[in-house]
Formats: sequence, structure tokens, C-alpha cells
Amino acid sequence: MDSPNPRSRPGRIESTPTEIPEELFDLAPLASHVCVLTGAGMSAESGIPTFRDPTHGLWENYNPEDLVSVQGWQADPHLVWAWHLWFQRLCASCEPNAGHRALGRWARLANTSAAPKIDIVTQNIDDLHERGGSEVLAHLHGDISTLRCADCGLVTDKHALAPTNPASFPAEDAPRIPPPRCTTCGGYIRHSVTWFGEALPTEAIDRAMTSAMTCDLMIVIGTSGSVYPAAGLPRLAADRGVPVVEINPRDTELTASMDVVWREGAAVALPALVAVLIDHHR
Ligand code: APR
Repeated sequence: MDSPNPRSRPGRIESTPTEIPEELFDLAPLASHVCVLTGAGMSAESGIPTFRDPTHGLWENYNPEDLVSVQGWQADPHLVWAWHLWFQRLCASCEPNAGHRALGRWARLANTSAAPKIDIVTQNIDDLHERGGSEVLAHLHGDISTLRCADCGLVTDKHALAPTNPASFPAEDAPRIPPPRCTTCGGYIRHSVTWFGEALPTEAIDRAMTSAMTCDLMIVIGTSGSVYPAAGLPRLAADRGVPVVEINPRDTELTASMDVVWREGAAVALPALVAVLIDHHR
């Protein structure tokens, strides 16, 4: 994962909160293939904090270099394992919000009518899209509930490991916990997520890029657009003249390059949008 490279595009349409921007109202029913890129803000209303919120973002209280980087793992695997167990438990305890469920309804509609194909590409390592009824095309940064050996790469049956039993997850301020050992090579077990300094899972980024390069509408929800290569995906669509829409309560690194900006939270905006689309396709 790397850092930002925003660009500017004049003439975007900006909405006021709660109102569906007129441009989106016109564009969305015509789309046949929508790429939806989501980030931490998508799950914020489910109770999972974002990373970069100035008051309660996770990186306000924790140093990502210590916890989600290759160097952090090498320096202190016990700290990294304990933090990921805490985050895994948090994700497991949260429920999909109205935004996740609306995307699920939209995707189901696509299976049964002339509604568009919806590709969900997420940076989130939770499974709230899936529990909200969507199939995820690409988990760009991995999946917190999958474990693998840090040395031999063997994917481990998550249920076989006592420390991943929710009952034994640590509290938020848990001290360091030694990761379990791989039964094949003896290496440390880690969560199968992408840390700073690591490449994204090849299949996931390939699928995401194909989607961004073939969609006819892109919707970017709840990401600050500060981590690449994910933040570069909207540009693949925009460079082909495909409209790109941002749903986010605040300005982001990507806002200047958007065609339509909807200043709203995901759990309010998406049910409103999908209700209109369901009506349209009825
Ligand atoms: N609805 C939509 N967006 C929201 C909401 C909401 N209810 N609440 C907050 N947001 C927005 C914020 O305004 C911000 O732009 O979500 C965004 C979250 O940004 P980040 O915390 O930077 O999260 P994200 O973009 O997903 O981070 C990318 O960084 O640390 C890594 O691997 C981690 O996948 C993550 C990556």
C-alpha cells in the first residue's frame, strides 16, 4: 500500500445533505455496470471506527507503523497479533448497517431484472458487505477472519486456533499476545490482511482494476482516498469518461476529481439511492 496522488477535475456537481444529487438521480438508472469502491466510512455507522477521523480515527490513538506494517510485525509480532485479535473481535461484534443492506438489495435486484451489475471492491477487512447480502468482488486489503502462516503462507483453519475463539479475544488494552505457531513449519500465524509495505493480493487488485476499467458508473464510498493503489481506481474509470460519484460526509483526497459529490453518510445515502433505483426497475 502507498500514498496519494489526487488530481483535479472542474465542474463537479455537489449536493446538500440528504438530497440525492440530481446528476446521480439521472445517471444511476442508466448504468449497466457499477463499480462500488468502499472504505472504512462504509462501516463507520456499524460501530467500526475509521482510520483517519481527526477525533476518533484509529490512527489518532495507534501508530500504524507499529501495528499494520511489515516493520511493526518484525519488531513486535506479539503486539501486532494482539491488536489484530482486538480488531477481529470488534468486527465480529458489529452488524451491517443500512448502507451495506441497501447495496445487498441493489445487487439482488441485478440478478432478477435489467438492473446493473454491481461490483463491490472494498478496502475493508470486515465482512459486513457479505453479511449485508452482497458478494464482494475484491477485498483489496484482505480479510481479518482469515489466518495464514507468516513464514510458509499456509492458510489456517480459523476454528482450529484457540486464540481466535471470540471468547478468548483480548480486551482493547490487552498486552502483547504471542501468536500461535504453524503446525507445518512452526512459523508465527498472522491475520491475512495487507500491511503497509506489502503488495495487495494479486487476484483482488486484478479484479478491481478490470471492474474500474469496464464499468459505466463508479461510486466511491467512505474512503479518504489516501492509500494507493486503491485510491487510484476511480481514475481508471474517470480517464475513460465514466462518471465517478463520491458519497462521504467530508472532503477527501479524491473530491477534486469527482463528477458528483454527495455529502452524506453511507447508511443514509445508500438506502435513499437504492429505493429510487428499485422503483425505477420495477
Ligand atoms: N459514511 C461515509 N463515509 C464516511 C462516514 C460515513 N458514515 N464516516 C466517515 N466517513 C469517511 C471519512 O470522511 C473518510 O473520508 O470515511 C473515510 C475514512 O477514511 P480512512 O479512515 O482513511 O479509511 P480508508 O480510506 O478506508 O483507509 C484506507 O488505510 O490504514 C489503511 O488499510 C487501512 O484500508 C485502510 C486504508
